[in-house]
Amino acid sequence: MDTVVKRVRRVRGRLALPGDKSIAHRALILGAMAAGQQSVEQLPASEDVAATVSCLETLGCRTEKKGSSSVLISPGEWAAGSTVFARNSGTTARLLSGLIAGKGLDVGIDGDASLRKRPMARIAQPLGRMGATITLSPGDRLPMRIRGGDLRGITWQPPVPSAQVKSAILIAGLCAEGRTEVIEALATRDHTERMLAAMGVPVERKGNAIAVPGRATLQGISITVPGDVSSAYFFMAAAAMIPGSSVRLLDVGINPTRLGALNVLKRMGAAITLETKESRAGEPLADIVVDPGSLKGATIEAAEVPSLIDELPVLAVVATQAEGTFEVRGAGELRHKESDRIDEIVRNLSLLGADIEEYDDGFAVQGPTALKSAAVSSGGDHRIAMALAVAGLATEGGVKIGNSEAVAVSYPDFFHDLHSLCE
Ligand code: S3P
Repeated sequence: MDTVVKRVRRVRGRLALPGDKSIAHRALILGAMAAGQQSVEQLPASEDVAATVSCLETLGCRTEKKGSSSVLISPGEWAAGSTVFARNSGTTARLLSGLIAGKGLDVGIDGDASLRKRPMARIAQPLGRMGATITLSPGDRLPMRIRGGDLRGITWQPPVPSAQVKSAILIAGLCAEGRTEVIEALATRDHTERMLAAMGVPVERKGNAIAVPGRATLQGISITVPGDVSSAYFFMAAAAMIPGSSVRLLDVGINPTRLGALNVLKRMGAAITLETKESRAGEPLADIVVDPGSLKGATIEAAEVPSLIDELPVLAVVATQAEGTFEVRGAGELRHKESDRIDEIVRNLSLLGADIEEYDDGFAVQGPTALKSAAVSSGGDHRIAMALAVAGLATEGGVKIGNSEAVAVSYPDFFHDLHSLCE
């Protein structure tokens, strides 16, 4: 599907975001391991989250839907011998690997063409060390088969910073014999640790080392998923770069491990205020108010990358409207997301007339540039589609986005919500 996004005078108004995709996956998967029911409210309509629900059902978990955005989940009779289909969702495939290994199941995991290109050795190695038998397809890709059971706790230092890998190991560790520890070189999002603590697991945290006990009991709780800050960033970016804008984003999760792009937008000159509210299941919450600023470039290096990895496409768009150089380095992981995001950003923004240079591990944008109308494509990647929509708001003649239906992976109502703020 093609969607045309036209230039607007400004964006203004208030918006409640769909629930956070990362937190929703964890609420479901940890709920499937809990004693008693876990109640999850404000689940996003995201296709990725729907993939997690249907994989858990295939594995035998009990789910009871209450309306479109709440579900009760509890373990059922584990069904071995099946294959679960994670669709486009890396978090589903990787976190479920930990669950399947830990619960001693013999299950295949597959995904769509994009997920089949993404690296899985990073999961297979630590789970293999814990005692699971994992068979990957050539190139260390999906489909893969996991035979779990009788795991022992390990200490693991992931070579690549990844919350998905950390979480998979911790989830397997909860079912293993003995303690499991993950030591990260750079801190990644910590939703799993926070939720486990809220579910009564004594999680140990010392700097970037996180440990869980083996044979742990998780208590089902009631979780209302905070608004997705990664979805909020598209509106924050639009308000920051279009003069005369002002948006208030309601009840957004402001976990510090997700705030890298907020800090960068502030460094670039955007006016951003957080009005803090009561936290939910260990996750801090706020209304975020964003007004434009006179924007300048910024430098992002490896240490900051995990805290803004999903926001680099939209930050690149903001950079086209900022004065000077915006440079990203140490972000080679971007090539292993739902698409090769470095390639997609550089190719699409070049079509729009941006001055952008590609590096192996990042890119550099010289701004500001008056973007020009063009037909671009999301490459099937939700975050590329939404970033290009933000570019369209500032492009004379607008932008035609091919494959725009990809937004449904995290945010099916994105274009509707964007439209509601446009003047
Ligand atoms: C996620 C972790 C990140 C992020 C992804 C969601 C998660 O991936 O890019 O969108 O929910 O744990 P990596 O773990 O591959 O860095």
